[in-house]
Formats: sequence, structure tokens, C-alpha cells
Amino acid sequence: MPSVVLIGGQWGDEGKGKVTDFLAEKADIVVRYQGGNNAGHTVVVGEKEFKLHLIPSGILYADKTCIIGNGVVIDPAVLIQELEYLAEKGINTDNLRISERAHIIMPYHKRLDEVIEEGKGAGKIGTTKRGIGPAYMDKAARVGIRFVDLLDKEVFSTLVKSNLEEKNMLFTKIYDTEGFDADAVIEEYTAYADRLRKYAADTSILIYDVLQAGDNVLFEGAQGTLLDLDHGTYPYVTSSHPIAGAACIGAGLGPTEINKVIGIIKAYTTRVGEGPFPTELENEAGQHLAAKGHEFGTTTGRPRRCGWFDAVISRYTARTSGLTSMAITKLDVLTGLDTLRICTGYKRGNEVIRDFPASLKVLAECEPVYEEMPGWTEDITNAARFDDLPEAAQNYLNRLSQLTGVPIAIIGVGSRRSQTLILDNLF
Ligand code: IMP
Repeated sequence: MPSVVLIGGQWGDEGKGKVTDFLAEKADIVVRYQGGNNAGHTVVVGEKEFKLHLIPSGILYADKTCIIGNGVVIDPAVLIQELEYLAEKGINTDNLRISERAHIIMPYHKRLDEVIEEGKGAGKIGTTKRGIGPAYMDKAARVGIRFVDLLDKEVFSTLVKSNLEEKNMLFTKIYDTEGFDADAVIEEYTAYADRLRKYAADTSILIYDVLQAGDNVLFEGAQGTLLDLDHGTYPYVTSSHPIAGAACIGAGLGPTEINKVIGIIKAYTTRVGEGPFPTELENEAGQHLAAKGHEFGTTTGRPRRCGWFDAVISRYTARTSGLTSMAITKLDVLTGLDTLRICTGYKRGNEVIRDFPASLKVLAECEPVYEEMPGWTEDITNAARFDDLPEAAQNYLNRLSQLTGVPIAIIGVGSRRSQTLILDNLF
């Protein structure tokens, strides 16, 4: 029963796509279990670059079954575009399976995402405006529409009509904007249903059977711990649960089925959107990280804020997701910086805080406590083993592991599949 959950350990964008792609080689199935097309993965295979938002990156291997689990919210138009994009690049997508229980993002969710954000003015969350929050709101309010409902025109039509009765009132009377015509939405979405029908499955059963057969399952998380609805920097979070526990709910399995949890953690820290970020750099070192790390969102193209590695965050991730190991990504981006800083705690007044605080007011008042380590200038992108790395890089990694209390299994030294050092085989 070898099952590995892979999660983002910071604010998302840790380079999960590359590690998933790498681990997918040994997995039999790859499962997405939360989030939607707010996520974005860039994977480089040979000379080809792939940008994926919804479909697990395991799809790049012809023999893997890829699953979009019940915990994901699906924009069918985006999914179809992604299927076509992959087909154009010569990738076979017949092995995709979509949970009948996954919820569907509707056009009114996207518009609501926009008008709610606009209404917040300076207090906006900075969402990706993909309708993610409103789709999960409807799921929790028990008025959402699931994939299985989309596939049944009668059920779907009834649900769209009852939803629009309420939503159109909101649009016209509260947000002073246009509503939606139910028949037009039903027609548009019925075409999507016809295109996607063949992928529908009870995916919990598929995954369970694979685990019972002793085959390998890789669960691919989206976003990261600090965007978790419960454990993140609320309210500047997404509306799903990027922490490892969500793999069970979002795939339909019990916690006893999970063997290992790997935290994907960037060698520094980045964040898109609003909210406090203690180690944020607004100087030359920050510009170095942004430029060298190509720190622009895959989904929205927005520049990411950059800062030093924060061990308060990595320890928090280790605890809330029960990490068994870490993958440290983008180590090569640090090459060329004379001195590296690692945040080991936060100072607030006379107090030193070691655990990530719940209050954003407290977090905004926190000053990072740093320790410094020498950097390196040698090119590390061709390193094949840990011992090939300069001593300063080895020391830096060892310190990250020590401060987090978790061993390192994987190190990323470049964007290609081959630029990955493996210290521990996870499957
Ligand atoms: P939403 O998920 O579109 O509702 O956005 C909520 C917050 O999560 C915003 O700050 C987004 O920038 C952030 N966010 C959502 N998905 C990602 C991601 O994949 N990477 C990084 N940030 C994300």
C-alpha cells in the first residue's frame, strides 16, 4: 500500500508540478484532491514545456491513470481547453478519470468572485478570479452542482434554474450587474457534459482498488499550507485545504491508507496576493530571487513577492501535515547571493515567537529573527548527487532540515526532470 501525499509547504508555487512529474514515473495513479484551476504547474520534459492547471501532471506519462478527485472544483471549459492543449502537444488523455462527486464551477461563480473582490476594495483577498471561492461556498451551502449532476440534463437544469433564481437577485439587486440566462447556461454546459462524460467515475473505488493491489498512488496537492482555509493566513487563503489531511477527504479514503507525506518547500519563500509576509524582501536580494526564479504566477501572470526561507513556516507545515520528508526546490536560484538568511523565529516586542501565529495582526507585527550563512557562486545545475553541491549549499540544506525537524528526500537544482537529486526513494 505505498501511497505518498505531496503538498506545498509555503504559500503555493513551490514547484510541486516538477516533483509530481518526477515521482509520477513510479506511481500507478496520480490524484488531485483539492483546489481547481487557481493552481498552475509548469513542467519541462526534454525541450517541451507544459503548463497545467487541473489535470495532474502524471498525464505526461502514457501509462498512468490520472484522477481529478471529489475535492476538486472543476471549470469544465478550462478542463476541455486543457485536454485540447495536451492533445495538440501529442499527449494521450484517455487515462483521465473525474470524480462524479467533484463540484462544477459555474459562470455565476466566476462573476461572483469578481464582484465580491471588487466590493472589498483595499481589503481584497487577491483571488485568481476563477470562481473557486464561490464554488466552494455553494458546496458548503449545499446548493452546489456536482459532475454527476451535470451529466444528467434534467437534474442539471433544475439545479441551474434554482441557483439562478437566487444568484440573479444578488447580481441585479446587490451588485448592480447583469444576471445570467438559465437556458443559455444549460445549453453551454450540456455541450461540456457531452465532451466530458466518458471520463466520469467513482474515483474513490478506483484508488482503493489500486491500493489494495499494492500499487503506488501519488496524491498531488495544490497551493500550500499558508493558503489552507483552516490553517493558513485567514482570510488571505484559498477556499480548500492544501494540507495533507485533505487528501483523504478529497479522494475518498481513510487516513490509514496514507504512508508518506512529502512537503515541497522552496529554498526561499514567495507569495502571490495580499496579506502579511514576514521575510519579504524589497531590495536587491528580493529582485535576484524574482528574476532568477522567474517568479510570476502560472495562472495569472502576477509577480510573486519574494523573501528568505522561513523555518517558522516549514515547522508549521511539518506539524500540520505530518511531513515524513521534504523536497527543497529551486536551490539553484540562490546561487550568486553572498550571504543567505534563514528566519528561525519572529520577534514581537520583547517576545520571540517560534510557532506560526493565528492572528494576522500579530503576524504583521512580527520581525524575523535571522541567522546568516555564507552563499555559493558555483553553478549547481549539473550536480547529480548531494556530494556534488558546494559545501555552503550542503550546509544550508542541512540547516533547513535541522530547523524543520524533517529529512530532505529530494533537491531541485533546475527546471528539467534530470535536474533533481534524490536522497531517498519515496516509492
Ligand atoms: P483563490 O484560490 O482564487 O480564491 O485565491 C485565494 C488566494 O490564494 C489568493 O491570494 C491567490 O493568489 C492564492 N492562490 C490560489 N491558488 C494559488 C496557487 O496555485 N499558487 C499561489 N497562490 C494561489
